[in-house]
Amino acid sequence: MDVVRSIRDMKEISRRLRREGKVIGFVPTMGYLHEGHLSLIRESKRRCDVTVVSIFVNPTQFGPTEDYDRYPRDLERDMALSSSEGVDYLFVPEVAEMYPDGFCTYVEVTGDLTSTMCGRSRPTFFRGVTTVVTKLFNIVSPHLAFFGEKDFQQLQVVRRMVRDLNMDVEIIPVPTVRDKDGLALSSRNTYLSPDERRAATVLYKSLMAAKDMVESGERSAERIKGMIEEMIRSEPLARIDYIAVVDSESLRDVEEVGPGTLIALAVWIGEARLIDNIVLGR
Ligand code: PAJ
Repeated sequence: MDVVRSIRDMKEISRRLRREGKVIGFVPTMGYLHEGHLSLIRESKRRCDVTVVSIFVNPTQFGPTEDYDRYPRDLERDMALSSSEGVDYLFVPEVAEMYPDGFCTYVEVTGDLTSTMCGRSRPTFFRGVTTVVTKLFNIVSPHLAFFGEKDFQQLQVVRRMVRDLNMDVEIIPVPTVRDKDGLALSSRNTYLSPDERRAATVLYKSLMAAKDMVESGERSAERIKGMIEEMIRSEPLARIDYIAVVDSESLRDVEEVGPGTLIALAVWIGEARLIDNIVLGR
């Protein structure tokens, strides 16, 4: 595995790979890799000739009071994991090269996709994501790029950006990887104390209870939201950021749930803001 530190080197490598006719798969990450990231890497390995993984804790997607400074980082471990998964290139750019003095160009998806859910709680988050993902796509020139359904709204926002801006990359969604007790894997799970870790299972439990409710015939989004809210409120260590019952394509609220409805939530457990979701009827 080659570790690539400069934008120029990464561009040169992608140009050469394209000339050689290789299909380039790309997995953008912020590092502190876990099995969720690894499943994206494995999917890329399965479908592409060459797999590029980026590790970049992107400052522009963190709000001023958010966890940029204490976001977990462990490059040594990430290098060992990536190498043992057979990653071909690990791209690890510097903040100063990605955002040099005078940087002032942003890519922004507007409208419902970014104004609801995580976009409401984190108003500059998606602008940071779409800007850095555009930069990374321009540098890596992938044919396929892999995104986790764990961050479902991010996946839909990136898909829309690619469509609206005619980017030459195919976005491949990858299902959420969970711990045995259902908690979606996330680099931020390291913030949790043992008690909080136990409390965090309430996210997936409430989503499963919602699914059961739908399977027993409930159609009212309001009643499903109410049940989820009650379940999460009964967990003293949890604080609700949002509960959304929306159409999985438009992310607009629905009154009646059905196939294609996304049930998504963001919940604070101690210092960690955790998200999770399910899509019904798939
Ligand atoms: P990060 O949180 O490191 O996630 C990188 C990718 O891994 C994302 O596509 C995310 O959806 C996926 N992922 C995370 N946890 C997962 C899980 N439990 N199961 C499946 N996939 C999972 O998302 C970002 O970084 C950044 O916003 C980024 C896209 C890299 C832009 O900076």
